[in-house]
Amino acid sequence: MVDVRTCLRDLKFSPTLLVNEEVAALRKRGKAIYHMGFGESPFPVHPIIQQAISGYSGKNQYMPAAGLEELRKKARASIVKKHDIGPGEFDALIGPGSKELIFDIQLAVGGDLLFPAPSWVSYIPQTYITGDAVIRMELGPDVMYKLDGERLQKAIDEARYDGRTPTKLILNYPNNPTGMTYRPRELEEIAEVCRRNRILIISDEIYAQVSFRRPHRSIAFYYPEGTIVTTGLSKHLSLGGFRLGVALVPSDLGHVIKVLRSIASETFSAVSTPIQFGVLAAFEENEEIERYIEDCTEIHDIVTRYVWKTLQELDVAYGEPQGGFYFYPDFERYRPRLEALFGVRTSEDLARALLHERSVAALPGTAFGDRDEKLRLRLSTVDFDGLSALIRHRDGKFAGEEAFVEAACPRVAGACSNLRAFFKEQP
Ligand SMILES: Cc1ncc(COP(=O)(O)O)c(C=O)c1O
Repeated sequence: MVDVRTCLRDLKFSPTLLVNEEVAALRKRGKAIYHMGFGESPFPVHPIIQQAISGYSGKNQYMPAAGLEELRKKARASIVKKHDIGPGEFDALIGPGSKELIFDIQLAVGGDLLFPAPSWVSYIPQTYITGDAVIRMELGPDVMYKLDGERLQKAIDEARYDGRTPTKLILNYPNNPTGMTYRPRELEEIAEVCRRNRILIISDEIYAQVSFRRPHRSIAFYYPEGTIVTTGLSKHLSLGGFRLGVALVPSDLGHVIKVLRSIASETFSAVSTPIQFGVLAAFEENEEIERYIEDCTEIHDIVTRYVWKTLQELDVAYGEPQGGFYFYPDFERYRPRLEALFGVRTSEDLARALLHERSVAALPGTAFGDRDEKLRLRLSTVDFDGLSALIRHRDGKFAGEEAFVEAACPRVAGACSNLRAFFKEQP
């Protein structure tokens, strides 16, 4: 009998990838599905990057484990500026996606993880591998699912009183699953608590460049000595499949940098060489690429506000979308109806009923570390053809934003009308 490590027995296949596979199978069988379950940005690779990649297809040598020197330099300069990181000194490390880098940081820094629930799907499963304990801080729609200094200090105090050792916090904004972001004053308060308590912040800022109407500021601006910023190209440049992420680690944390480099050297070795050369352009100042990012972000803004209106109609909206492409509504107010009509008691029941009754795929709150009985779903807003949306958006020939979504993103519009039907109409 093969011995599977105890801590790994709870590790399942990533729910986001799983729902995607399920939807693909249903679609293959001819079923029309509205896919609000997966968070992949739908736009095409920018031609400048496509050309660059093909130009480097002959590059076959291994790269240094921390990444191509030129890329590290360019990535650091670009991220410091775009994320408004301030004057701190940081080393940039390149990895195969920020998911892997977040895992490596969790592995490198021992101690208990301060976890705002809900949070992105992979943070907790990664602790099953590192074996670290988790200190949950439950957040609800009443506070727009946002952490504050007082709540954080309370969690640290209680954990220490119980003999535990909180050492690290994962903060993510603009947030997946909630779509919320933090204001400078709120970041300053969290940073202050972390500095006082010597807590390392892993600041997952992968959606920084998909911020709507308010510029992004990194929490590293307020706490440069204790913040590792992770980010990448998967969201604002739709390059998830390229698998390239960046971590900016404070230069003073030399021991952490050393461990991260060693982990890289003994596991993935280095990110693929043509990819590292090919994405140099993504970190240079380039007007065309900037315009593409702005256009894609504006489309996300329009589409999320369309979905937000549906959530307002259903009385489950909690805050205007601020970035990224997600919502995390709580359907508690519909519990009697859902239980009577579909036997729904948990978020997983709810996701299943919505898929079977109205062909809308969504992820249950349990995937985000929420308790089973909370009737919360994560809805993503990216089930549309990005190229056609970009073309229509550039044409500008649509009578208002709603008309744009209905013409360019018909599956998102369809998902919204099916959500309304599921929660309001007789089945
Ligand atoms: C909040 C969050 N962090 C990190 C990632 C990982 O991104 P990547 O590994 O593609 O850089 C994702 C991707 O879905 C995400 O939503």
